[in-house]
Amino acid sequence: MKGFPKGFAWGAATAAYQVEGAVADGGRGPSIWDPFCRIPGKTANGESGDVACDHYHRFREDVGLMREMGLGAYRFSIAWPRVFPEGKGRANEEGVAFYDALLDELTAAGIKPMATLYHWDLPSALQDEGGWARPDIADLFADYAEFAYRAFGDRVYSWITLNEPWVSAYAGHYAGRHAPGKADFALAVKVAHNLNLAHAKAIERYRAAGSPGAGGIGAALNLYPMHPAVPGSKADVEAAALADGYHNRWFLDPMLKGNYPQDMIAFFRERGACPTISSADMDAIGANRCDFLGINYYFRKVIRADASAPIIGYTEVKPKSSAYTDMGWEIYPKGLYELLMRVKGDYGDPRMVVTENGAAFADDRREGELIADDDRIDFMRSHIAEASRAIADGARLEGYYAWSLLDNFEWAFGYGKRFGLIGVDYATQARVLKKSALWYRDAIAE
Ligand code: FCB
Repeated sequence: MKGFPKGFAWGAATAAYQVEGAVADGGRGPSIWDPFCRIPGKTANGESGDVACDHYHRFREDVGLMREMGLGAYRFSIAWPRVFPEGKGRANEEGVAFYDALLDELTAAGIKPMATLYHWDLPSALQDEGGWARPDIADLFADYAEFAYRAFGDRVYSWITLNEPWVSAYAGHYAGRHAPGKADFALAVKVAHNLNLAHAKAIERYRAAGSPGAGGIGAALNLYPMHPAVPGSKADVEAAALADGYHNRWFLDPMLKGNYPQDMIAFFRERGACPTISSADMDAIGANRCDFLGINYYFRKVIRADASAPIIGYTEVKPKSSAYTDMGWEIYPKGLYELLMRVKGDYGDPRMVVTENGAAFADDRREGELIADDDRIDFMRSHIAEASRAIADGARLEGYYAWSLLDNFEWAFGYGKRFGLIGVDYATQARVLKKSALWYRDAIAE
């Protein structure tokens, strides 16, 4: 592709619970998503990741498809409860063997593995004892991470500690639309701190283990450009700055600068929701910065001050003239350029990777047998163009991972939302490259 340096990683991404299925196979323990999906009303049609894409059994075929597409890299997640069914204690050999086999297959195909340690599937056994709010959770995560470095570090190229900690904290503990389905703001803020601490402690162990993997370690944050609904409105500008603190800076600042944004500490404190943050916690956070930042970019947020909105005091508005994906997410490619340049400018020019970018569309157009998802091609092409513009302007961007390799279980939305470059027929588990996959293949080859 034009405008990208040699060695740039062209990849695609998935996450364990969204693709593996086989939840009761190979000694896997339950994660918080297993019981959550069984609560009526929590997921579309009561769907779950029980079977998903059956990737656990079909990973060889899937790596074959990656090879066919010419992917240089693949981002997947390790299911903590497959490796430690109880979250701690004895490792499960069969679970370890599965990731060994996957890594061997990727290595043989010349595809660089990027492994995410936590993509939302906390072992249920740990949730029963307080989950991400328990006082020792950061150490338990670091123990699991250290095990993974030692077991898989000879083949993993780069590591992601946490995927989208904002979503784990607030969708899971405040909005209740993700597992474990809690609705307690102060609990969510506490979890947001514990996740930052867990990330730092996992990096500490990474360095102690000799930093296995030439690509280093980072986190994948869901970042959003925050735009005031009315640029001239002081209230909207302030609300957008708050939204930026709440979603972006609360994670960016500790991970890249080693401290918390003081305006957000004050904001949480005023609402009686600031957790206890010890100086030992801050020492760990301060001493363990990311090697690179992973950015998951889907859309911007347009923010309007709204005193009636509980706690945060703003609402998000959807510009009428914009186009939207099947998720109702605004298509806004420029936001990717804006984010990359902002992180570069505000955070000391870090190495960056787009760890997720993509779109759900209905995929109902056909050209003969081919799923003609031109809307997805347009989406990718326009976002990749913005990434290349940021590189031309000095952003140290090293990779782009399309979300997703395959259609898969889209959390609370179930199987109805299709993000894949590869289509999956869930009745037969047949895979078929969509037009976007062929386009991506040709663009990578070019
Ligand atoms: C991100 C998640 C990923 C997927 C995409 C659509 O927030 O990290 O698992 O669901 O959204």
